[in-house]
Amino acid sequence: MTTLSPSSAPARLAHYDTTTIVLHWLTVVLVLGLFALAEIWGFLPRGTPTRRLLQSLHISFGLAFACVFVLRLVWRLSAGRRLPRATSGWMGAASVGVHGLLYLLMAAQIVLGFLFRWAQGEPFAFFGLFDIPTLIPIAHEQRRFIGGLHDTVAWIIITLAALHALAALFHHYVLRDGVLRRMTSSR
Ligand code: HEM
Ligand code: HEM
Repeated sequence: MTTLSPSSAPARLAHYDTTTIVLHWLTVVLVLGLFALAEIWGFLPRGTPTRRLLQSLHISFGLAFACVFVLRLVWRLSAGRRLPRATSGWMGAASVGVHGLLYLLMAAQIVLGFLFRWAQGEPFAFFGLFDIPTLIPIAHEQRRFIGGLHDTVAWIIITLAALHALAALFHHYVLRDGVLRRMTSSR
């Protein structure tokens, strides 16, 4: 793990390492893609092949997202570069809080996704290559409740991520303080 102190470089001029940056943007694409797939199939009639295809893509990419998330956590807690807060005061505290909440909600969403599929009792396949076994049997009647929670958490993640992205753009275009570049270039 590399930790930069505010004295080693001005906090706003520090940069995350390439692995952290790649994992962050991969997470962004996967979270937005998973959400978009679910919203699109919501418009299609139940049982149609296209709706089923989008659902199985959601499940396969959901499994890929779970792997990326675990990798990201392991990297962050081990070799990943940690930076000092880019801003002080309430803005710094808010950004730490939002980042922590995003990690927590993404972890919860993965757990709910697994429980949802096990409650549905249907095949849990990764791109047709292999099936995930049912490790925790969940009563079929629980599927609506778990699905409702999974849907609510999805909207909270998307809302928080939108605020987080707006804050990053505000730093870039209004404050012009280099915070966005911490997550776009490792140099
Ligand atoms: C941040 C990531 C994710 C987002 C934003 C998301 C979002 C959603 C949404 C909005 C729905 C529709 C819920 C409803 O209408 O009741 C859904 C369904 C579902 N999600 Fe996710 N999801 C994510 C991750 C996952 C993961 C990691 C898994 C498990 C591997 C998963 C498994 C499922 C399953 C099984 C369904 C139901 C599909 C069906 O009806 O056949 N999701 N998801
Ligand atoms: C689904 C969407 C997103 C999620 C889940 C997400 C999640 C996160 C998390 C958890 C961190 C904290 C990294 C750490 O310290 O470990 C972070 C940092 C960051 N994100 Fe995002 N993010 C998303 C979208 C975006 C977008 C669209 C932008 C740019 C417009 C962005 C810009 C940044 C920047 C600049 C940082 C570093 C902030 C700093 O150094 O204080 N993120 N993101």
